Amino acid sequence: MAALLHEGTAYPAGSRVLEVGCGIGAQTAHLVASSPGARIVAVDVNEASLGQARARLAADSPDAEVEWHCADLFDLPFSDASFDHLFVCFVLEHLPDPQRALLELRRLLRPGGTVTAIEGDHGSVLLHPDSAHARAAIDCQVQLQSLAGGDAHIGRRLQPLLAEAGYDGITVQARPVYVDQNRPELVEGFTRNTFIAMIESVGSDALAAGLTTSADWRRGVADLHRVAEAGGTFHYTFFKALAAKLP
Ligand SMILES: C[S@@+](CC[C@H](N)C(=O)[O-])C[C@H]1O[C@@H](n2cnc3c(N)ncnc32)[C@H](O)[C@@H]1O
Repeated sequence: MAALLHEGTAYPAGSRVLEVGCGIGAQTAHLVASSPGARIVAVDVNEASLGQARARLAADSPDAEVEWHCADLFDLPFSDASFDHLFVCFVLEHLPDPQRALLELRRLLRPGGTVTAIEGDHGSVLLHPDSAHARAAIDCQVQLQSLAGGDAHIGRRLQPLLAEAGYDGITVQARPVYVDQNRPELVEGFTRNTFIAMIESVGSDALAAGLTTSADWRRGVADLHRVAEAGGTFHYTFFKALAAKLP
C-alpha cells in the first residue's frame, strides 16, 4: 500500500515539507524514508495522535529530524510562503470545507511549490461476490462520514477542489488496488484489516443513527468477508493529486 500511495513522491534534500494531519505518523514514516534530507514538519490537531507519531518515528527512524506541531490546519503558526511542499493524505475527506482548507494551505506555499493530496473514494468499491447487503453496510460508513461533515467520495473531487482553491498544473492519478487470493498479503493487509475493519468499526454508530438493523448489518459484514475468501475479489481506487502554486 505504501508503494501505491507514495510512488512518485520524493522531496529534494533541504526542502521544507509540511505534512498536514499526520495522525499517528503512518505517512510521515514513508516521507522521511523517501526524502532523506528534506525537512519534514508534521502537524495534527489531535495531541494524542501526534504523541503516537513522535514515538513511532523515534523508534523506527531515530535519525529522522521531524518537527512536530499540535495545531489546527485552519490556524497554523507558520508564515506565508514558508514551505516548498505540502503533503495531505486522508485528511480532506474529514473536513466540512476542504476547499477552504486547500486555500488556507496555499498561503503557506512558496511560489513554485507543490501540494500532494491523496484521498480514497468509497464509490470505487467493486465486490465479488457482489452483495446489496455489503454495499448497504459500506453506505452506512459513507452516510456517517457525511453526517460528521466529511465526504467518503472525495477522491473524485480533488481536481475541482484544487482548481477552485487557486492551484495550477493539477494532475490527478487514479491508483487502483485489486485484490484476490493470489495476493494474500493484500487480502489480509488491505481488504480485511483496512477496508472491512474500517466498515466494521462504525457498526454501533450506524445502528444508533438508525441507518441499519442488527440483522442487516450482520449480513452486510458477513458478505463483505466473503470477498476476502477464496474465489472472492475486491477493488478500491485511491486518487493522488499533484498541483503547484505558480510563481
Ligand atoms: C484519517 S487521519 C489520516 C492521518 C494520516 N494523514 C494518514 O494518512 O495516516 C486524519 C487526520 O487528520 C487530522 N485532522 C482533522 N482535522 C484537522 C484539522 N482541522 N487540523 C489538523 N489536523 C486535522 C485528524 O486529527 C487525523 O489525525
